[in-house]
Amino acid sequence: MSQSIVSSRPLDRRRFLMGSAGALAAGAAFRFPTPAIAQPAPLKVGFMLPYSGTFAKLGKFIDDGFRLYVEQQGGSLGGRPIQFVQVDDESKPESATDNMNRLVGREKVDVVVGTVHSGVAMAMVKVARDTNTMLIIPNAGVNEATGPLCAPNIFRTSFSNWQVCEPMGKVMFDEGRRNVVTITWRYAAGQQMVGAFAEGFTKAGGKVVEELALPFPEVEFQALITRIATLKPDAVFAFFAGGGAVKFVKDYAAAGLNKSVPLYGAGFLTDGTIPAQGEAANGIKTTLHYADNLDNAANKSFLTAFKAKTGQDGDIYAVQGFDAAALMAAGLSATKGDWGARAQVAAAMQAAKFDSPRGPLSFSKANNPVQNVYLREVRNGRNELVSVAGQAVSDPARGCRAQS
Ligand code: BEZ
Repeated sequence: MSQSIVSSRPLDRRRFLMGSAGALAAGAAFRFPTPAIAQPAPLKVGFMLPYSGTFAKLGKFIDDGFRLYVEQQGGSLGGRPIQFVQVDDESKPESATDNMNRLVGREKVDVVVGTVHSGVAMAMVKVARDTNTMLIIPNAGVNEATGPLCAPNIFRTSFSNWQVCEPMGKVMFDEGRRNVVTITWRYAAGQQMVGAFAEGFTKAGGKVVEELALPFPEVEFQALITRIATLKPDAVFAFFAGGGAVKFVKDYAAAGLNKSVPLYGAGFLTDGTIPAQGEAANGIKTTLHYADNLDNAANKSFLTAFKAKTGQDGDIYAVQGFDAAALMAAGLSATKGDWGARAQVAAAMQAAKFDSPRGPLSFSKANNPVQNVYLREVRNGRNELVSVAGQAVSDPARGCRAQS
């Protein structure tokens, strides 16, 4: 029986077609004793994610979620076996261009999936635009990626920083909060999330009395927590994630502030972190495009499968990785596995609609998810659904000249 050659070189359209028809023709010319059954050539996916540092668990869960989807499809998407190559971006913006160039230039990946950190994502978007590399962002919310820097080859399966925080402004005002302090890391995600919250909150009639921040990824919160105690606001709105979120929530409770100044935030404050935060997380309310107990079939089967694969409870990061693979599958299925047919791949991905574990998911003209944003509260050791804070929320995509 003849064998097709597995190549790790990226495929253009012609080589992809050669992988099947060409191999058959070659088999006929050399009179192989049995007909060749050509395997489609693999598609190379480059993960550029944090596998170390404060966001390490987030990167790992995105990776696991993506692989889970591929495994459920038997290891192929649209008929193409998937190969992986990983780069640890360490959430360091200063290394991001080199890391991206390594994946695109040296590894010659067909698509890059990454990353978590908004500052790293900004550099990735620039390289993707310059090299016309397909980029799927499975977390970083930096508004520009699907705003002024939007492009047909840049997709996001997560959220924009604006999208998940603006709805919290009205929620907190409606709960009677009038004077609020914000606290975050001083970098794109923190500033944009706090800015979006403030936009919604001031529109509703509330006032942000002080904006506190510290450099990413510092976790010396004590001075800022003391400042909150002095200011005595009605509530605090916070963005931290990963290891930093664990420490902040524990420090806040250790200072006793959780008893007097209610803590709210972007959902990352408590997603994937509750086991480490313990009782300190109880009662924290956040907005996000996911809640652990969403009562839909996709979420139930996702959580069961993720637990079986990893032994851990799935969270939003795992969902975003899972959906990144589903989005790629939509593009590949539409072209019968021809990733080189880029215009058709991109059109099919933009038109994709699926029942995600997060609920209904579709994509805007700027290639950003259109999705529900949920108000959740930490109860019983999980982020439980309280209400839908925004139905089918779409990022305004400010500055994006909409794709055709
Ligand atoms: C960001 O940098 O965009 C980000 C990081 C962690 C969680 C959410 C957003």
